[in-house]
Amino acid sequence: MSFLVLENIKKSFGATAVVKDFSMSIEKGEFVSFLGPSGCGKTTVLRMIAGFESPSDGTIVINGRNQNGLKTSQRNIGMVFQAYALFPNMTVADNVAFGLKVAGKPKEEIGARVNEMLKLISLEHLADRYPYQMSGGQQQRVALARALAPKPQVLLLDEPLSALDAKIRVSLREEIRQIQRQLGITTVFVTHDQEEALSISDRIVVMNAGRADQIGTPSQIYNRPATRFVASFVGTLNIIEAIVVDPAANSVRIGNSVVTLRDPIGTSKSGGPISIALRPEAGSMAADAKGDTTLAGKVISSHFLGSVIRTKFDVAGSQVSFDMFNSPDSPLPQPGETVTLRFLASDLLVVRE
Ligand SMILES: Nc1ncnc2c1ncn2[C@@H]1O[C@H](COP(=O)(O)OP(=O)(O)OP(=O)(O)O)[C@@H](O)[C@H]1O
Ligand SMILES: [Mg+2]
Repeated sequence: MSFLVLENIKKSFGATAVVKDFSMSIEKGEFVSFLGPSGCGKTTVLRMIAGFESPSDGTIVINGRNQNGLKTSQRNIGMVFQAYALFPNMTVADNVAFGLKVAGKPKEEIGARVNEMLKLISLEHLADRYPYQMSGGQQQRVALARALAPKPQVLLLDEPLSALDAKIRVSLREEIRQIQRQLGITTVFVTHDQEEALSISDRIVVMNAGRADQIGTPSQIYNRPATRFVASFVGTLNIIEAIVVDPAANSVRIGNSVVTLRDPIGTSKSGGPISIALRPEAGSMAADAKGDTTLAGKVISSHFLGSVIRTKFDVAGSQVSFDMFNSPDSPLPQPGETVTLRFLASDLLVVRE
């Protein structure tokens, strides 16, 4: 059995269903991100794991033990929040020691563990500082040390980086991941930043209105989005409106071209509409580019962005934007020009609405 199991979790506040049938299994030591827009229920699921809220329905099992009915204090979970939630009137060392003191650990053990934790976050030299004397990034590292000090069985991080500036966010997310690996602690990390989720997770749960739209590795989520929502939330994806020609042969019509897809079309009937997604990096204008599929595109606009050239095309009435590597010898595509776009049939993805 997986280490942390969420089984058909539902949560309503009054008449509003906020989490609708959410299930997933997380392995021991795994780093899982919940990714989704504001209000989709990320924090609510986290709070149910921690025991701050109880599910309206469903079960939560940690290490083989059903958590329903257990208080937060009985669950042995470490949590870090978005806002700096350190105790302002306590030093760094006392903040880190807090959970151990509450648990009634002996003084020597607390001292040793606090030193170990401060070393882990490289802040031994700031043990006697107060939170107001530290930067936001330092405070979040202390919050992490405080959460980890009692050796929790699960670590929950609710947008711990979102109040920090961009540079610190990147370095701290790598530090968090490295510490998580070192300790092998099962972790759920909440974010609404897709790049953050893609860069540090073993698996990502893309949440949409209280449900998991897709659960997969960063590569699966980015390269094989299951729904239109996942496709548009994780990266900027082009959607081409096409017409099904023959569902059995996986063929669709895009403008005047009939294209055979690698993705199964599913149940769509012949003559019906179908949405085809295409990554911005999938297309090429180069005549020697590898690609088994071509489509005509009329250039709408073209922008030089340094390493890439971003060009917007009209492809059979759908606007698609492609990023192509800059090469000093090739001129910018000119608006009005019609070009042949090449790509692989396997890059044309069928997405569920
Ligand atoms: N205690 C509560 N009572 C009533 N409604 C609540 C309560 N807690 C959360 N909600 C509602 O549940 C929905 C999901 O909230 P939640 O905090 O889980 O979203 P989130 O995905 O964490 O969003 P964000 O990215 O903004 O933090 C929201 O519409 C919110 O208003
Ligand atoms: Mg939240």
